[in-house]
Amino acid sequence: MNFHVLTLFPEVFDTINHSMIKRAIESGKISINPVYIRDFATNNRRQTDGYPYGGGAGMVMMAEPIYRAYKSLEINHPRTIYLTPQGKVFNQAMAQELSAEPDLVLLCGHYEGVDQRIIDEIVTDEVSIGDFVLTGGEIAAMAVIDAVARLVPGVIKADSLDAESFSAGLLEYPQYTRPPEFMGRMVPEILLSGHHAEIEKWRHQQAVEATRSKRPDLLAEEE
Ligand code: ADE
Repeated sequence: MNFHVLTLFPEVFDTINHSMIKRAIESGKISINPVYIRDFATNNRRQTDGYPYGGGAGMVMMAEPIYRAYKSLEINHPRTIYLTPQGKVFNQAMAQELSAEPDLVLLCGHYEGVDQRIIDEIVTDEVSIGDFVLTGGEIAAMAVIDAVARLVPGVIKADSLDAESFSAGLLEYPQYTRPPEFMGRMVPEILLSGHHAEIEKWRHQQAVEATRSKRPDLLAEEE
């Protein structure tokens, strides 16, 4: 799967090259292709933004450089996501759905936003990563890339995903590793018992309990 990011800050995307994502890139399962919008500016000052028609604070990103950057990809009607606090709030189901796309274009806004006509022309989905306002779409795009990339087949072990889908909609159960005692706190005995079925049952109960106490809204959604 190829992630194409239309951005004024392409260097930001150099940082998502570690751990699982790095291995996914190296093995060719995903690629991350930042496209520098300024390279597609049309005037000799390489301008990419302008004052808003009708007045008001801040600058608006121009449609033309974004459109030319998008066209340079030469992909037929790709799924194109505009990262904006006005979008649909991103979740795991959306990540799952997007992971089936061969190409994903992510448009990162800045300043007061982008000219509405580019949204009308190329954007298929408006996505927010939460009800707060970032200075630009880059960090949101990185969050989407990270969440989608790990669901691309072969990027993480199938059994990790199986465990995730088994407990879909629930928070994680607590995890422990060595040593068996830390500051007088013991690892729950069941985890040392070797009884796999019992351990699975305990973990599921713990996941339900954690969800009930920390995120009851997730359980309400299921009903
Ligand atoms: N751009 C600015 N804030 C954002 C948010 N919360 N989600 C996605 N893109 C954004």
